[in-house]
Amino acid sequence: MHPYLNIAISAARRAGTIITRQLEKVDTLEIFEKGINDLVTYVDRSAEEAIMEIIYKAYPQHGIVAEESGVLPGNEFVWVIDPLDGTLNFTHGFPQFSISIAVLYRGVIEHAVIYDPISQDLYTASKGAGAQLNNRRIRVSNREALKSALIGMSFPCRGKDLQPGAHWESNSKVLSTLIFDHHAEPRKIGSAALNLAYVASGKLDGFYESGLKEWDIAAGILLVREAGGYVSDYQGEGESLDTGNIIAGTRRVHRELLKLVQENGVT
Ligand code: IPD
Ligand code: CA
Ligand code: CA
Repeated sequence: MHPYLNIAISAARRAGTIITRQLEKVDTLEIFEKGINDLVTYVDRSAEEAIMEIIYKAYPQHGIVAEESGVLPGNEFVWVIDPLDGTLNFTHGFPQFSISIAVLYRGVIEHAVIYDPISQDLYTASKGAGAQLNNRRIRVSNREALKSALIGMSFPCRGKDLQPGAHWESNSKVLSTLIFDHHAEPRKIGSAALNLAYVASGKLDGFYESGLKEWDIAAGILLVREAGGYVSDYQGEGESLDTGNIIAGTRRVHRELLKLVQENGVT
């Protein structure tokens, strides 16, 4: 295993311990609103500090982009960190959240870890070396069409997304087509990183969401690709890291989801 991946795993597990220790106390946690439906607690911050401490001890010259700390410049290696993806779920004690860590070299995602501290499932990938769940090789599902597929998704529901009319019509059309025409089952899990880990391990057949940040998806993009899946932005090309709009899935599910999103003008 690559040493960077080892460090990412140690950091993710350490953050997982910090997060789960606080789970029983969520009722008394002080919650700060960064924006509507955009929360942060001291648990997010302590988990991020612990992750960064482990990375800096091993690689003090590397750069970091972390959700709560921002951009910390370094050399051509950059660690992209979401210390707690699914904060809203966490604050409700709803057990769907994760830690997401990716290592980029000159902008290319080279290593990825997504850790679910509740199930203790550890998803890992290195570019060209496949994807694993708890050290066992994983692949995307073999779903050939949207018919009866399980699709992770989310409505944009922050800040300007909540203005009347914004996004809702196009997103609703996609959703109703999925349900009524394809008899697919949408799932709104509340952690983009977990959605992508679930696509990589075949639990979901596809996933789409708009307006995500690079720390939500960097690790998940590599996991899905290394598990044989397809990932793109809403143009069907390019790196969703830049736009934050992502479609992931098996080859056929990705293609059909992309068509659906484009036909309905989701942005
Ligand atoms: C959020 C989760 C959620 C997605 C939001 C993200 P956070 O991350 O990934 O599933 O719908 O757009 O911001 O704030 O809990 O780290
Ligand atoms: Ca996040
Ligand atoms: Ca977060």
